[in-house]
Amino acid sequence: MLIVDDEALLRWSLRERLGKEGYDVLEAGTVAEARAQIGAEVDLLLLDFKLPDGDGLSVLKFVKEQHPDILVILMTAFSTIENAVEAMKLGAFHYVNKPFNLDEVALLVEKALETSQLRREVRNLRSSQGREFGLDSIIGSSPAMEQVKSLLARVAASPASTVLLTGETGTGKDLAAKAIHYNSDRAAKPFVNITCSALPEQLLESELFGHERGAFTDARQQKRGLFETADGGTVFLDEIGEMTPGLQSKLLRFLEEKAFKRVGGLSDIRVNVRVVAATNRNLEDEVKNGKFREDLFYRLQVMPILLPPLRERRGDVALLSGYYIDRFNREFRKKVRGVSAAAAKVLDQYQWPGNVRELKNAIERAMLLIDRDTLEPDDFTTLTRTVTNAGFKLPAEGINLEDLERQLLLQALERAGGNQTQAAGLLGINRDQVRYRIEKFGIQAAKGS
Ligand SMILES: Nc1ncnc2c1ncn2[C@@H]1O[C@H](COP(=O)(O)OP(=O)(O)OP(=O)(O)O)[C@@H](O)[C@H]1O
Ligand SMILES: [Mg+2]
Repeated sequence: MLIVDDEALLRWSLRERLGKEGYDVLEAGTVAEARAQIGAEVDLLLLDFKLPDGDGLSVLKFVKEQHPDILVILMTAFSTIENAVEAMKLGAFHYVNKPFNLDEVALLVEKALETSQLRREVRNLRSSQGREFGLDSIIGSSPAMEQVKSLLARVAASPASTVLLTGETGTGKDLAAKAIHYNSDRAAKPFVNITCSALPEQLLESELFGHERGAFTDARQQKRGLFETADGGTVFLDEIGEMTPGLQSKLLRFLEEKAFKRVGGLSDIRVNVRVVAATNRNLEDEVKNGKFREDLFYRLQVMPILLPPLRERRGDVALLSGYYIDRFNREFRKKVRGVSAAAAKVLDQYQWPGNVRELKNAIERAMLLIDRDTLEPDDFTTLTRTVTNAGFKLPAEGINLEDLERQLLLQALERAGGNQTQAAGLLGINRDQVRYRIEKFGIQAAKGS
């Protein structure tokens, strides 16, 4: 830490006391000396308000601009409230009035350093997430994906623009939202994520915008919303197509004015967040059907990014398979080398309605069971069977799906001699799903086998 005070005696007594606690202590007697010593190795500043060549506030400003991580405790002799208030506004951690008790200062220093340690840990965590969720985590070398990645990089670099991610389920919208955040200069600030369809309108509104105490029956306390929590960072609004019209207009106002009111609140709150929205619906259709506000659509449409379905970039299938084989080799401690030519053909011809998520699951399922070193078509029966399913025709008079499911389950259990794992294999589902259906349909005989 650095002690900045023109009184040598005071510096000496602080140094004695804090040195005993094991801290490395530097000293400065003037603003100029202080500036010369402030640098990366300083965690904390004990700063006198009145110095021979200037005041402490100017040092505080300098620190907050150049080294925002250094914590500052201001020491003030003629304790006018204004100095303290001003210092706190400028970002001081705390202040003490002179003359002070050395124990009190030591305690404050300990608290401050705990805070700075925590901050550093949070930052390290965020930067490791940055590596995990960076653009490199998006696999794909097809021209379509190269284009998406370069768009994402450009959007990330532009400080504030709102982004709309569209694409079928499993195409990587979540992944793209994180990549935008962690590649932007917002990376050290929060990334918060909410699924608009997961909550009823009122709850979603108070999650997003917060509420004042007494705004509604359960609002016993004031609450900050996600937009406030994420200040400086990114808010990811997933499934934006499900947002109700009332909330759509509040969101529009926020996007246009960067301001909102808490539920039950009267004054505007301003924050700086980037909004990334995602949907797997066709918003244009929703607009035509009157379900989605046209003005909000155009506001979001400023920077649209479409994640192409996997079947339209088949070149990525092999790359992604290889990637997931590596990953599950590590997770399951297996030594699978790859897919056979025949299996590659299966993967290549499949339509992938669930896109990358489905591919990942298919590889995972295959690798869980395998004890060979090459994946064969047999390891992907759920996929090959889907192709067979395509031949099934729904009879003109319709069917009873529940009953058909029950009959198929009974047949599978019978053919598997009551073995649930084998029956699951025949049905292309897992054992838990078989068990669930046995319960659901009240099938007795096969239970527990
Ligand atoms: N290009 C890609 N490279 C690597 N992994 C990917 C890629 N695209 C998707 N994934 C993986 O596929 C899974 C599904 O992706 P994600 O959750 O981002 O899809 P989504 O578009 O948000 O789907 P949904 O509409 O269902 O929410 C995740 O495990 C993700 O890591
Ligand atoms: Mg998603």
